[in-house]
Amino acid sequence: MNVLLVGSGGREHALAWKLAQSPLLDTLYAAPGNPGIAQVAEIADISAGDHRSLIDFCIRHSIQFVVVGPEAPLCEGLGDNLRTMGVGVFGPNRFAAQLEGSKGFTKDLCQREHIPTAAYARVETKEGGLAALDDFGLPVVVKADGLAAGKGVTVAETREQAEAAILDIFSGHGGSAVIEEFLTGEEASLFVLTDGTSLMPFGSAQDHKRVGEGDTGPNTGGMGAYSPAPVLTAALEQQAIDEIVRPTVEALARQGHPYSGVLYAGLMLTADGPKLIEYNARFGDPECQVLMTRLQGDLLEYMIACDKGTLGDMPAPVFADGTALTVVMAANNYPGTPETGGTIDGIDAAEATGAKVFHAGTKLDGGKLVASGGRVLTVTATGSTVREAQAAAYRAVDAVDFPTGFCRRDIGWREVEREG
Ligand code: AMP
Ligand code: GLY
Repeated sequence: MNVLLVGSGGREHALAWKLAQSPLLDTLYAAPGNPGIAQVAEIADISAGDHRSLIDFCIRHSIQFVVVGPEAPLCEGLGDNLRTMGVGVFGPNRFAAQLEGSKGFTKDLCQREHIPTAAYARVETKEGGLAALDDFGLPVVVKADGLAAGKGVTVAETREQAEAAILDIFSGHGGSAVIEEFLTGEEASLFVLTDGTSLMPFGSAQDHKRVGEGDTGPNTGGMGAYSPAPVLTAALEQQAIDEIVRPTVEALARQGHPYSGVLYAGLMLTADGPKLIEYNARFGDPECQVLMTRLQGDLLEYMIACDKGTLGDMPAPVFADGTALTVVMAANNYPGTPETGGTIDGIDAAEATGAKVFHAGTKLDGGKLVASGGRVLTVTATGSTVREAQAAAYRAVDAVDFPTGFCRRDIGWREVEREG
């Protein structure tokens, strides 16, 4: 079959690389893609937000299945639009994508279904937000309601910071926020495929969200990740599925809006067990890069089964033993306005070490590869331990020549310390 992949980041390069290996595939197209994706797919110059052009493209190129990488098109209803046209889709429809698109929607669902998560107040005005702070201790977490690309969350240590975050959210017209109890513990990401009825655990990971070493400084989309996450033991994973993911999927099905695709549960492993921090309606970036590196077998077959409602007929997925670890190479000044246009060399040398370099924010400029975004490359390697995977990833990083970029040197540090 002909497949269209929507998106242009490192996550989509990893998906494209894996999809290209599928025996079910005739031609893989990607819109808008990037130079890495172009090595394995035919590029269509259509933005992920241009639903009409994407649908026209599907008709003209006999696309039977669309894999949607990022959340924005799902929250905007690309899944609904394609399904209406008879095209299969990996990813939820708009209603179910609210699990990522609206923090208030998810918190209300959790409350109704008794799903473990931080206590919260949903507020629609500045005054309501400021008053609600009285019900919480410090630190307290303030979140803007809509999609915010990882930037809508403030963990406030003081009342002043919390008030400033609320004033910021309500500074324009309207606004909507969620105020939350601060949870303590270690974070882990659990990925679960679902067709709305069946659930299939699809790997775990931990990422490093802060820009600085030792997990300090501003939040980013993620500076590196590894899979599996040993802190998410088999018992904790089962508990998270039973208490968090299954009740969520069942609630949406009961409402007549079954979720299909991958559900990414951001978990806090607290002393009282796993609690939901947030859901995403897509694979994580860069978590996807490490999951795809470990996945054996045919990704496309699993994705089609999510859409068709046949996931229950599929065998459990097999992930390679050992660890995959990825290091993000970002453009200077990220997560502020990144310095774009810097040249990138040495990818072949990096891959000659046995690593895989996924393109995240790159473009060709007169035949030269240059940086075009904040996160530029994700350099991914494997090893039998986290320490080995980390060493292999940094060997490859050191072979890349990207003078206007930087990376963290400590991806995986928690696990490396635990391995001793
Ligand atoms: P989110 O966008 O909801 O994933 O939040 C981004 C990050 O903020 C999370 O990965 C956590 O590190 C932190 N965070 C969010 N909510 C909480 C919470 N209730 N307690 C502690 N940390 C939180
Ligand atoms: N790496 C975090 C995310 O994809 O949301």
